[in-house]
Amino acid sequence: MQRYNVNEITTSKVGGVLSIQLNRPEKKNAINKGMYVALNEALIHASQEFDIRAVVISGAGAAFTAGNDIFDFANTDDAPMDDSAPGFQFIKSLHNFPKPLIAAVQGSAVGIGTTLLFHCDAAFATPTAEFSMPFVTLGLVPEAGSSFLFPRLVGHLRASEILLTGRSFSASEALEMGIINKVVDDPLAEAMKTAERIADQPPTSVINTKALLKSSNHAAVEAVMAAEGELFRLALQSDEAQTAFMKFLSRKAK
Ligand code: COA
Repeated sequence: MQRYNVNEITTSKVGGVLSIQLNRPEKKNAINKGMYVALNEALIHASQEFDIRAVVISGAGAAFTAGNDIFDFANTDDAPMDDSAPGFQFIKSLHNFPKPLIAAVQGSAVGIGTTLLFHCDAAFATPTAEFSMPFVTLGLVPEAGSSFLFPRLVGHLRASEILLTGRSFSASEALEMGIINKVVDDPLAEAMKTAERIADQPPTSVINTKALLKSSNHAAVEAVMAAEGELFRLALQSDEAQTAFMKFLSRKAK
């Protein structure tokens, strides 16, 4: 039985690099439940396959991703209501992924599209890329450990201003804050080049170095993710969130 549309997440292996592409361009690569299942499977496969030395994640079309599918958020059958939900499993896989993960961002990177970058080992974006974490605007709370990782990266005041207003920020601001490595016209080419360089390095040394770089934060991020998850699930059922979802879903009907 097919559990998801296999075409919405595509993978290809080039040398030692697995390229994962979000491929739902007509919905700005909004990530639905099935896509989380596929992403999760791709990361598990990549972690187990010795020949895969690095992973590149990118989006097809104009956007990196518009974040979680809001229709799924609004629909209790598909909303991430417990730890076993594919969305939460994906976040966990990201956090525990042992090999280098490199992102190529163009256009919008909303919600998980920005928070997944905090788990990446390198990230590149176009000059017009736009980042946002509108959790508060949607009546939700931050996820993927971002309430811990973002302020650690940019300082409390900057993180709180961005998270509490839900405002978006540009590629140059993301660069200045250290969320991306470089602003480039072709982030996918840059990401592939970096991944290939890493793939040429001794693999055990790469894995151990990534683990060491993450080790001081690993347990703390896990604890924060658990707390975020509890509040997120409560928030999903709140009137504030349901009103915000309906506002988005009905905007074109007006
Ligand atoms: N969930 C479900 N569908 C989404 C979506 C999402 N997160 N983001 C975009 N879409 C759909 C739109 O409903 C639209 O579908 P339609 O053509 O059937 O009407 C299509 O994708 C294109 O989106 P559109 O809004 O027309 O594109 P845009 O270029 O004007 O704007 C965004 C792009 C990303 C800025 C805008 O779509 C947006 O704000 N999306 C919601 C982001 C969000 O809040 N995500 C949740 C984060 S936790």
